[in-house]
Amino acid sequence: MIVLKTGRELNIMREACRISAGALQTAGKAVEPGVTTAEIDRLAEEYIRSQGGEPNFKNYEGYPATACISINNEVIHGIPSSKRKLRAGDIVSIDLGAKFDGYHGDNAATFACGDISEEAKRLMDATRESLYEGIKAARAGGRIGDISHAVQAYVEARGYSVVRQFVGHGVGTHLHEAPEVPNFGTAGRGIRLMPGMTIAIEPMVNAGAAGVEVQPDGWTVLTKDGSLSAHFEHTVAITADGPKIMTLI
Ligand code: MF3
Ligand code: CO
Repeated sequence: MIVLKTGRELNIMREACRISAGALQTAGKAVEPGVTTAEIDRLAEEYIRSQGGEPNFKNYEGYPATACISINNEVIHGIPSSKRKLRAGDIVSIDLGAKFDGYHGDNAATFACGDISEEAKRLMDATRESLYEGIKAARAGGRIGDISHAVQAYVEARGYSVVRQFVGHGVGTHLHEAPEVPNFGTAGRGIRLMPGMTIAIEPMVNAGAAGVEVQPDGWTVLTKDGSLSAHFEHTVAITADGPKIMTLI
């Protein structure tokens, strides 16, 4: 069931999203050579709690941390660890969210650790840009497929692949709600977009082929071919005045 949010609910959700965005910014600023992913996770959790929020990934289906931190060929759901030190040249995808007063925010971005290759920069730029293409297509009266198509077309025109096994989603009183928001599809297809819908649009883009596999830890998702992967996500509200990005500070 797709839940349309009232103006009052959107206001609360905006606060959850503001906290999520602040935590992501805090985590991103901490990305540098020598820092462990557990340290970044701790900073994110402290920020969320300092703002009166709760980390909403923690304990979600047994997930053990505030953030997912995925490096290089890791696509999503990397588990922070005090044994994992960032190195110059890494690209670091951080995904996290906050719950506030019963509502969820969700956002992600890929950050550069020190100097990174031109190839890695291009992948990150294309992934970020594909998210904004998807957001532009999130208009009341349109359809989910408009978003999916916009992301996919942008990504594939640059020779990259969108991950298909994981998709964006509705977000509200639950971290994951209907509808699914795939990063591939056909414009004009799928459910109709309506004012009051709140969705997380989150392209996961591989430099090589689209295939991914889950590591034995049960969480970390890797590219099958070992290629680099990037991930950007915003929580977006569909309104009569167009898409509004909620996960801004
Ligand atoms: N980051 C995922 C999303 O954006 C959810 C993470 S699942 C968790 O939808 F278990 F890692 F929290
Ligand atoms: Co999400």
